[in-house]
Amino acid sequence: MKNQRKTSYPVADVIVNRWSPRALSGEAISKQELMSLFEAARWAPSSYNNQPWYFVYALRDTPQWATLFDLLVAFNQSWAKNAAALVLIVSKDDFHKTGKPSRTSAFDTGAAWENMAIQAVSQGLVTHGMEGFDYDKAKKVLNIPDGYTVQAMVAVGKLGQKNLLPPELQEKEVVTDRKPLNEFVFEGSFSS
Ligand SMILES: Cc1cc2nc3c(=O)[nH]c(=O)nc-3n(C[C@H](O)[C@H](O)[C@H](O)COP(=O)(O)O)c2cc1C
Repeated sequence: MKNQRKTSYPVADVIVNRWSPRALSGEAISKQELMSLFEAARWAPSSYNNQPWYFVYALRDTPQWATLFDLLVAFNQSWAKNAAALVLIVSKDDFHKTGKPSRTSAFDTGAAWENMAIQAVSQGLVTHGMEGFDYDKAKKVLNIPDGYTVQAMVAVGKLGQKNLLPPELQEKEVVTDRKPLNEFVFEGSFSS
């Protein structure tokens, strides 16, 4: 699908070309390709360079796949079955060095995820964030200790054909728009 997004100001192509399709091809990707996404995440900025992000992944056609896949709600399973990898994103709540609570751990981990998503675009891959999964079960079955927060899951893959999706998903397979800048950018003080 051609990306029809129109920006009000110029931005880098990788920004507007990132989107979250559900039409995935079912093709595998190599571990190498996936590691480049984590490498991109690694270079995200974080408060005090704390790097609070963690990733638990499973490639399709591996024994680990079912463990992550089974956490997804049925709706997400219906299309993410054609992903090449599933990645659970976790953040550490406290600073590594001081043990004090990190106010920005979720923010920092969000930056790492977006790096991943942008890197995927540059590799000809697509990503689709998901909150539709069992967070409590994820903590349990993936051995995530207390003091770490499960943030989201991401499906990574290659773009597939929209017309192979079930009709109800074809309807949703559109490039989303955004609210205008003047609704969320304020000079000097907040305005609601
Ligand atoms: C943290 C997060 C959770 C999301 N959860 C789901 C989900 O469970 N299922 C789904 O189909 N899409 C999910 N999405 C996709 C969003 O709906 C999508 O990113 C948003 O509509 C913007 O569209 P775009 O990513 O194509 O620009 C999620 C996205 C993010 C970032």
